[in-house]
Amino acid sequence: MCGIVGYTGPREAYPIIIKGLKRLEYRGYDSTGVALQNGGIKVYKKKGKVAELEDTIVGKDLHANTGIGHTRWATHGEPSDRNAHPHQSASGKLAMIHNGIIENYNQLKQELSNKGYTFTSDTDTEVLLNFIEEIKSNNNCSLEEAVRVALKRVTGAYVILLLDNDDPETIIAARKGSPLVIGVGKGEHFLGSDASPMLEYTKEVVYVNDYELAIVKPDELILKNLGNEKITPYVQKLDLELAAIEKSGYDHFMLKEIFEQPRTIHDCLRGRLDAMAGTITMSGIQQYADQIVNTNRIIMIACGTSWHAGLVAEYIFEELTRINVEVEYASEFRYRNPVINKGDVIIAISQSGETADTLVAIENAKEKGAIILGVVNVVGSSIARTSHGGAYTHAGPEIGVASTKAFTAQLAVLTMIALKIGYIKGTIPQERYTQLLKELEEIPEKVAWTLQHSESIKVLAEKYKDARDFLYLGRGYNFPVALEGALKLKEISYIHAEGYPAAEMKHGPIALVDESLPVVFVATKDQYHEKVVSNMQEIKARKGRVISVITEGDENAEALSEDVMVVPEADEILAPMLSVIPLQLLAYYIGVAKGCDVDKPRNLAKSVTVE
Ligand code: F6R
Repeated sequence: MCGIVGYTGPREAYPIIIKGLKRLEYRGYDSTGVALQNGGIKVYKKKGKVAELEDTIVGKDLHANTGIGHTRWATHGEPSDRNAHPHQSASGKLAMIHNGIIENYNQLKQELSNKGYTFTSDTDTEVLLNFIEEIKSNNNCSLEEAVRVALKRVTGAYVILLLDNDDPETIIAARKGSPLVIGVGKGEHFLGSDASPMLEYTKEVVYVNDYELAIVKPDELILKNLGNEKITPYVQKLDLELAAIEKSGYDHFMLKEIFEQPRTIHDCLRGRLDAMAGTITMSGIQQYADQIVNTNRIIMIACGTSWHAGLVAEYIFEELTRINVEVEYASEFRYRNPVINKGDVIIAISQSGETADTLVAIENAKEKGAIILGVVNVVGSSIARTSHGGAYTHAGPEIGVASTKAFTAQLAVLTMIALKIGYIKGTIPQERYTQLLKELEEIPEKVAWTLQHSESIKVLAEKYKDARDFLYLGRGYNFPVALEGALKLKEISYIHAEGYPAAEMKHGPIALVDESLPVVFVATKDQYHEKVVSNMQEIKARKGRVISVITEGDENAEALSEDVMVVPEADEILAPMLSVIPLQLLAYYIGVAKGCDVDKPRNLAKSVTVE
């Protein structure tokens, strides 16, 4: 979490940094700060969002050609002015920003305290910075050398950017476990947690790898490993346009991203799915096709919404490939002692490709001989690079903190993988295969149809916005959709919501049902439909308020519901890509109706790069 930006070159650094931080606020937004080289390092920082910092430093002399900036998601130390980054070293000569966690900071702090250091913040960052300064002055060495020595003692994850009073045009940067992109311009360099802060200035970027250190000057970029050996920077062309990271007239990124789904799913299928020819082309899967077809089990590893996509995929894979599938929370999996056999296939699902728990879980599995396939949105991200193969979801940048378009793109990719493997394995009857390919191709259109009904969902949002709790129920393919609907509502509107398998409701949650409880059924037409309708009867009999996502024309379910949200008919395997859409909209509109900051819900960050 946390967003970092840096600039060194002939332009004014401050506006570039501020604009960059606003684009990175999805990574954290509880405090903000900048450090500028303006005849000595000047630091401005404040609790709150970037705009709040801007307001408080109006009128200051912000002229500088080199600077760094930070937007924070607190780990060590509450959100406050003094815990905001950048931090300055005890001498005031160094300033540093940090994304990540220094796990052994207590030990380092103790060592420094014994030498008489005192600290002005509660952060691990200030400890690391003073540790670096201590090494620099003890060894009388360059900052670069001091950083290298210090990082060899550090356990944890970091991206750090440092400024030095004595070398005002240089930014020293280093990375392990958190993302760092360097934009290469003409006589200037940009640094960011992702490429968004530099998009309008350059399309040439270098993705810094773990254990690399960068010495960044206006006209020079030197990359080294921690052993002080030079590495040739691998400059890549960025395939991202500015429009992709702007709101394009929508009130919020979340709404824009919900409405983008017909296109993002289409982009995800394009060039891969050819229903006429009956083919699915996925080169990153094809090269491991033999191993996948012959594996005894697939383990899906993910967190949050991506984990829900894994749950849907479990049903799809088991149905279409007859391979045993397990779905794991990365955060649990990595700390267990899971049985992983050589040849097991791991599918890591992640929008950001930077989720720390998922990354470590797959690294552990890789060491034990598993084949790692990434289903990742962010190109060049850590999980994508750690995976042996896989497929990108091509949903474009997802900026709203609540995941929407990434989820449906994950489902589209996972469905294609299951279809491809099932077809090779011979576990899908030809007729069904052909029909599913054809129907999958029609999904973007059906999503567009569903979105046309957004106004009626807005009305429902007004009606139900004051409910204290919600229950979301579904069966089969729609059970994970119920979980996802509940997650969306709680993160966006702060209303307590629980997702449950509809049949399990009788084993406990039914005790919650009374006339004040909205119960959202994900009840599209599938093999479980009649049973879900019986569950609706049970809720209705207890005076619960039934709201349902139903297939168009399902009068039976409609008659049992106080309100309905309608989706077009689709094969049950593909239905989650449709049934989740009204739930995304419901959460969004309730969040807006309650006055919540839906793009930046409290306490959350888009990319969870700490464990
Ligand atoms: C929920 C949400 C999170 C993420 C989770 C995993 O709306 O966005 O639950 O799904 O943090 O993130 P990725 O997919 O980036 O690994």
